[in-house]
Amino acid sequence: MLRRHLPALLLAGCGSPQAAAPMRVEGATGLNTRAAAKGLAFGSAISARQLQQPDLVAALRADCGLLVAEYEQKWRIIEPERGRRSFVGPDFIARFARESGMALRGHTLLWHESEPGWAESLDARALADAADRHVIATATHFRGRIATWDVLNEAIHLADGRPDWLRRTRLLRLLGPDYIPRAFTLARAADPAARLAYNDYGCEHATLYGRRKRLGVLALLRALKQAGVPVQVLGVQGHLSAHLAFEAAEWRDFLGEVASLGLTIEITEFDVNDRALPAATGPRDEAVAELTRRFLQATLAEPAVRSVTCWGLSDRHSWIRRGVLADHRRRDNAEARPLPYDAQMQRKPMWHAIAAAFDAAPARPPF
Ligand code: G3I
Repeated sequence: MLRRHLPALLLAGCGSPQAAAPMRVEGATGLNTRAAAKGLAFGSAISARQLQQPDLVAALRADCGLLVAEYEQKWRIIEPERGRRSFVGPDFIARFARESGMALRGHTLLWHESEPGWAESLDARALADAADRHVIATATHFRGRIATWDVLNEAIHLADGRPDWLRRTRLLRLLGPDYIPRAFTLARAADPAARLAYNDYGCEHATLYGRRKRLGVLALLRALKQAGVPVQVLGVQGHLSAHLAFEAAEWRDFLGEVASLGLTIEITEFDVNDRALPAATGPRDEAVAELTRRFLQATLAEPAVRSVTCWGLSDRHSWIRRGVLADHRRRDNAEARPLPYDAQMQRKPMWHAIAAAFDAAPARPPF
């Protein structure tokens, strides 16, 4: 199936990753090797296009035991026209992961920002039918190949002011909160083996927003568990900001409360936004590494935490550099440095902070 489409991938600059001579990344023991020694896993988001870059592929092979598609596995990319699905992009990534001995996270079945444009005009019944078909078709297509599915992404939104803190998405407005258990139930039926996760951002910092977001996420998880919904994992995105407070004690309390619900925890999109730090790269990299150290030391102390996935390995691919969010740009226009490798694929202090955190982490059963 994939070979038939390979010419298109080649045209799109997505030739076989094996074409790239596997460069060796000299030096220290890789991050996933260190993680696996403690029953953890380390990985990165990736795109099919990025798999054409030999230096990046070498670093992925040296450091990662887990991959996730940064965008190719989302609804709007899989089904750009109603009823016409293509899995060529995510299959390409899944094949690289399998051939490289890496596990694959699925991201994400339902997310208000990745619904296809044609879904905006559907009425409630048609939208429910389209969402059901998408969840079933996609989870069935990847059956047996996904370690953990992000079934639902970012459904808690404090600013919408609902008593249950749910985000007023089209799915919520037209179908009510039941769209959430329905998605998990359909995903479970389509893929009995994958762990099913709820994934969200904004819980990590010791701010009023972070404390309220944690309450909202816990409320949703408790409601799902009490209703017998098949959710096993909380995905903590981990998009940190170097200028915001982080308190290890309150963070560990939150992780403990999630674990007490019988859930495991995966850090799913880890990076550190340095937009408020001075431009000088030395001190900036050190500040990013210090927050990385503090966050991972507190996080990995929780036995229910099972993996850490960075939202890219190299600064050159970071979504933060692409200005996806306007307030992510630095006022001095200096390039963001949020990830373990710099744009020239040199390991940064952040890489070493992640390595040290895995080395110091208490062991747990294998991921
Ligand atoms: O590569 C194509 C290019 O060929 C095409 O010409 C262009 C025009 O459409 O699109 C390019 O793909 C873009 C892709 O990023 C790579 O840059 C997609 O349009 C764009 O939608 C995609 O944005 C992604 C975004 O999610 C929406 O899917 C970002 O890469 C990705 O980092 C971001 O990730 C999200 C998580 O899924 C959820 N948590 C927040 C996180 C950051 O926003």
